Amino acid sequence: MKPCLLIVDDDQGIRTQMKWALNSDYEIVLAEDRATAVESFKANSPSVTLLDLGLPPHPNSCEEGLAVLSDLLALDRQAKIIIISGQGEKNNAIEAVGSGAYDFLCKPVEIDELKLILRRCIYVVNLEREYRDMQQKLRADVFEEMLGASPQMQGVFAFVRKVAATDAPVLLLGESGTGKELAAMAIHRRSARKDGPFIAINCNAIPENLLESELFGHEKGAFTGAHVQRKGLMESAGSGSLFLDEIGELPPPIQVKLLRFLQEQRFQRVGGRQEIQIDTRIIAATNVDLKEAVTKGKFREDLYFRLAVVVIKLPPLRDRGEDAEVLAQEFLQQFAAQCDKTGLRFGSDAIRAIRRHSWPGNVRELQNRVKRAIIMAEGKRVTAGDLELSDSAELVPAATLKQARENVERELVEQALKKHSGRISAAATDLGISRPTLYELMDKLGIGRSDGASQSSGEARKEKSSEPQKM
Ligand SMILES: Nc1ncnc2c1ncn2[C@@H]1O[C@H](COP(=O)(O)OP(=O)(O)OP(=O)(O)O)[C@@H](O)[C@H]1O
Ligand SMILES: [Mg+2]
Repeated sequence: MKPCLLIVDDDQGIRTQMKWALNSDYEIVLAEDRATAVESFKANSPSVTLLDLGLPPHPNSCEEGLAVLSDLLALDRQAKIIIISGQGEKNNAIEAVGSGAYDFLCKPVEIDELKLILRRCIYVVNLEREYRDMQQKLRADVFEEMLGASPQMQGVFAFVRKVAATDAPVLLLGESGTGKELAAMAIHRRSARKDGPFIAINCNAIPENLLESELFGHEKGAFTGAHVQRKGLMESAGSGSLFLDEIGELPPPIQVKLLRFLQEQRFQRVGGRQEIQIDTRIIAATNVDLKEAVTKGKFREDLYFRLAVVVIKLPPLRDRGEDAEVLAQEFLQQFAAQCDKTGLRFGSDAIRAIRRHSWPGNVRELQNRVKRAIIMAEGKRVTAGDLELSDSAELVPAATLKQARENVERELVEQALKKHSGRISAAATDLGISRPTLYELMDKLGIGRSDGASQSSGEARKEKSSEPQKM
């Protein structure tokens, strides 16, 4: 597509001449005075405008031209306007550049010189556009401190936005280090409760006998050592949000109390009779299979259903396509700046290793490896070794040719599935085989159909053929 060029000149001869000279490289639109110039600028959003300063009703002064300049810049501060001034009016042209014009030419205009200036101007226009696009993309990839360009994470962001607007309890599921706490904070910050407190408690980190009073508070004399009345975290969270991490570890008596709170928004402090009413929002998280805990009788089913009104699953990092690389680059910038080691870059072996690794510890593992690598790196390049990752595929040692072939096949199939987040047709196209052949291959290699994208380390592979991994 040719860039659009607006030519504003009251002299029809000049307009026609310029049009013919520039027609092959630009989509030309013409205007002859202030009104048509503004109208055409609005209608065509030209990449560049050529503006004659001497326009009617004052063709012999620069007044009207400067007025057009300021009109157009008011419409778009980034507009690229090249001034064409009469002979001996260079000062006016310089004044125009001072007011925001991109450049100027004096009449008579040399077409070659004009073409050169235009090309340079279009180059700047394109650079600026690319920069804006990049900025916009970067903004789209960050959501409340969570970085994620993958469709999976964009889906999570969209879900969080919707859920934040409600008051419903939320259950966050996901492996360790996938960002459940960060998501909980995002929900809080995006909600109408954002000015209230966000209080987090790890249900597994507090001894059972203290947890109830920690959550619900106690009255004076409720137990030995309870010298004064104390409010619990539920009350402290008040009109904010309470984040119950590792909810699967909540002891049964406290499960009952939490269930009642979710049903009636009321509770009693330990040792108290008074009903306390609070409208705290509960956000819970776990990395264990809560449904299984329900089946085993460890977790109350009624509480599960109360909590799981809205469930958000944080996908494991290995299923987020290029996010591992994007996050690694971001962490490298952040941590390197903190360590006064700016200018560090990943070597190509490091990038390959980041792409191959299956990240069992998810984002937290990535953060830790990058932090360590920055300390270990010598010179300006971070290597796979600095990340303590292997650059080559970790192939299972093969005893026979058949086994070696299967190892390579498995490696390639798993890579393709990972790249396409488990989508069979896309992976088959990449591998140059048909879908049915890929299915056959997966069956032969014992790669589960729903979890093909999940793991690639040798250990994981051995497990996988017997039991598909859950996501
Ligand atoms: N999408 C992301 N963008 C940037 N940083 C992230 C992202 N997800 C997680 N992190 C960072 O990774 C670390 C682990 O995240 P977080 O504590 O939220 O995980 P988690 O799922 O709660 O883990 P666990 O189950 O072990 O408690 C934190 O330092 C967090 O800031
Ligand atoms: Mg956590």
